[in-house]
Amino acid sequence: MSTLDITVLDQYSTEELLTRLDHGRLPRHVAVIMDGNGRWAKSRYMPRIAGHYEGMKSVREVVTACREIGIQALTLYAFSQENWKRPPEEIGLLMKLMEGYLKSELDLLLEQDIRFMTIGRPELLPKPVLQWIEKVETATRDCNKMILTVAVSYGGRGEIVDAMRAILEDYQQGSVTIQDIDESLVDRYLYTTALPDLDLLIRTSGEARISNFLLWQVAYAELHLTKTLWPDFRRRELLLALLDYQTRDRRFGRTPQPGLAQTIGKPS
Ligand code: FPP
Repeated sequence: MSTLDITVLDQYSTEELLTRLDHGRLPRHVAVIMDGNGRWAKSRYMPRIAGHYEGMKSVREVVTACREIGIQALTLYAFSQENWKRPPEEIGLLMKLMEGYLKSELDLLLEQDIRFMTIGRPELLPKPVLQWIEKVETATRDCNKMILTVAVSYGGRGEIVDAMRAILEDYQQGSVTIQDIDESLVDRYLYTTALPDLDLLIRTSGEARISNFLLWQVAYAELHLTKTLWPDFRRRELLLALLDYQTRDRRFGRTPQPGLAQTIGKPS
């Protein structure tokens, strides 16, 4: 849980926050549960989709900022397995938004050398969205400054079930034995096999749930929970999350190491 004194950091300008960041201790892989679009819209007497539209602007800003800062992998929870239970009109509009995002961002992703990937069950998405996903995945395949992964029709339990099925198929064909099965083998069968270990999981909107996201991968991740609603989560909130991460003493079950924990100083 966070021990960050947000009131101290809030006195800094965004650019000062950037100078406080230790570029040698950045999380390699950051994931975000983007929550609160509906509440953002409701508080403004606007339709829910307006919140998703504004949330897409946060996606743009956070992707660009992560790339500039030097984060290697960013994974965004855009549509869960459970989100199929939402009203069809909202699902339809979310799909249109995702298609629009892919169309409008392709050039920018190429320019910024960002590889785009999806995890989950993208094949369940409407055909035009799936076609755009495939187009952007193919076009950015060789980009290597950052991997942007968007989780669509994703569920963490489903991912583990898919991995178990694939392992058992390989077991039946004789390419995997029971002795081969360990944590690193399971890692290789997950959707996220190409990504570094998850270091930081951010959830916006004040909720404190994992919501079936990256269940295996979250094992040793640091959690940053913020009340900020996703449409208001921009470059500044990202920097606060990264600075919060850098206050943590990541022990992975070991005893504390002197000098490893770092604190954020008061403004000069
Ligand atoms: C959760 O807020 C948000 C979503 C289910 C959708 C997230 C989608 C976007 C940010 C836009 C498209 C994304 C990409 C990657 C192009 P909520 O609706 O559950 O909010 P609430 O809890 O306040 O109702």
